[in-house]
Amino acid sequence: MPVTAASLERAALDSAVREIAAEMADRPDRGTVASYIPELAEVDPGRFALVVIDADGHVAAGGDSEAPFSIQSISKVFTLTLALGMAGDRLWAKVGREPSGSPFNSIVQLENEKGIPRNPFINAGAIAVTDLILARRQPREALGEILRFLQFLSDDTSIVIDAAVAASEQRTGFRNAALANYMRSFGVLENPVDFTLGVYFHHCAIAMSCRQLAQAGRFLAHLGANPATGMRVVSPERARRINAIMLTCGHYDGSGEFAYRVGLPGKSGVGGGILAVAPGKASVAVWSPGLDAAGNSHLGRIALEKLTRRMGWSIFGT
Ligand code: DON
Repeated sequence: MPVTAASLERAALDSAVREIAAEMADRPDRGTVASYIPELAEVDPGRFALVVIDADGHVAAGGDSEAPFSIQSISKVFTLTLALGMAGDRLWAKVGREPSGSPFNSIVQLENEKGIPRNPFINAGAIAVTDLILARRQPREALGEILRFLQFLSDDTSIVIDAAVAASEQRTGFRNAALANYMRSFGVLENPVDFTLGVYFHHCAIAMSCRQLAQAGRFLAHLGANPATGMRVVSPERARRINAIMLTCGHYDGSGEFAYRVGLPGKSGVGGGILAVAPGKASVAVWSPGLDAAGNSHLGRIALEKLTRRMGWSIFGT
């Protein structure tokens, strides 16, 4: 095979992913697995996976790349995409788009801002987005639409909701219930609070592998369309804007640190996953269940920092 710039870049990517996954498997500092959703506390902190899908569709995978995990707040990227498709800019009357600088489940910020959540990725904002998707339908219909959207993006109909995780969160989600009821009192939520919360808890409980997640994120890395099929998901402008919100809000009060160290739009979940987007280059998914103080994957962030450095992928320069 002739040696081209593309084949050299691909070889560099393969060895970066292989070496980073090997290094992460051995690190003793793994963060703390989320325990406020009891089912998530059962996950082994020793797991790790990293998958990168480049613009040509080449997959570089390391670790437990096919193991499904709870995507949790990463689902908020896809619900935002769906809700923008349904409501367009009407969505921004209900949710802001500024970084919160506060924990993902902050109550005090919502009160200060009269029930309008700071952005669509904190819990309150994502619950408001879910309420828009619900749009007076039965929860089952809205949930089916969200799940089918993820199956379509990943080109994989085997993706399911982990019913045990959803039930675990439903039993213990008192803080989310407080946020939702508070927003309902301002008319920000329009559906019965139990319906909206039910859909929210279930979309957070969708289980996906890093390979499926990296596949689902490809449209964000490639101007709103899947480069393999040319199939358009959103306009280039909308993809750019979703990426902007991921960069500024995707890691809550850890968003500045993530931009500083990794330099890519990214969205974390308390299951320990992160979806990151290298515009024009690749879609990246990483999973390590132990979290840092802000509720973001500890080793996931470190792995992404190493990857972007080695590949020169930070959007702020090498
Ligand atoms: O609502 C919750 O608390 C969870 N279903 C999602 C939180 C989450 O993933 C925060 N991200 N790091």
